[in-house]
Amino acid sequence: MAAEKDLQKKVIEEFSGMAAVKKYTKEALSGLWESEEKLIKRYFKKGSSVIDIGCGTGRTTIPLFRMGYKVTGLDITPKFIEIAKRIAGSKRLKIKYVAGDAAALKFKEGSFENAMFSFNGWTQIPMENIRLKALAEIYRVLKPRGCFIFTTHIRSWKGFTKLWLKQFAKIYILKPVGFHIEEIDFGDVFFSRDPTAEYSSKQFIHIPNVSHIRRLLEKTGFSVVLMAKRSEIAPGDSTLASGNCMFYVCIKPE
Ligand SMILES: C[S@@+](CC[C@H](N)C(=O)[O-])C[C@H]1O[C@@H](n2cnc3c(N)ncnc32)[C@H](O)[C@@H]1O
Repeated sequence: MAAEKDLQKKVIEEFSGMAAVKKYTKEALSGLWESEEKLIKRYFKKGSSVIDIGCGTGRTTIPLFRMGYKVTGLDITPKFIEIAKRIAGSKRLKIKYVAGDAAALKFKEGSFENAMFSFNGWTQIPMENIRLKALAEIYRVLKPRGCFIFTTHIRSWKGFTKLWLKQFAKIYILKPVGFHIEEIDFGDVFFSRDPTAEYSSKQFIHIPNVSHIRRLLEKTGFSVVLMAKRSEIAPGDSTLASGNCMFYVCIKPE
């Protein structure tokens, strides 16, 4: 418990730091990825309600609002909510933003018709049982037939074999004999946001096995109606930041 709380604190601290604040303030008005826009238009009914979890500074919240959705942006990093509110205010957009944790949502059951957790944000929750708790919370706050869209990186990406072999040794050989190993679950990665910047910082992300994610979603109660790589939805998108990540579209059954 202490390890995951510590790591979550570090995740929030990094997002509140200079490197991330600079990046996400710049990205706030960059708009939806083409893949996101296509899926939103296909699965979120016009004018319906959306909880945009891990909304950051509003990159997805602003376009959702402009498309006519009743959107609430929620993020665990108070600094991002502060920036999101400031940006929305400067554009005279009356968007509702709240600080909060996906794993402990302060909304009643069935509050929203849709949910989003974009840009792999769900995988920045440390520890599998907490990620699972967040899925259960998202399921709870959705109405029956509600739709949840999110993305993750993909463990089987080419070029990662060395990383996973090293991690296997760390978690299953060194950790049991008492070495201090930062990674909690197999697939945990710490990356440098901008190695060239003097204020560069290490951030956490979990890179999952995508079939395992499907099992977690089904365990939560969701029906997985689509799992598709970003390139399969919008070929041009896969060259952007986040690469050819996996989209999941899930429905809460009636
Ligand atoms: C990669 S950023 C994406 C931000 C925004 N969605 C975008 O696309 O620019 C991931 C976001 O998830 C948020 N986040 C991480 N864990 C969270 C949690 N448990 N509950 C809510 N937000 C969380 C982070 O604070 C961060 O803003």
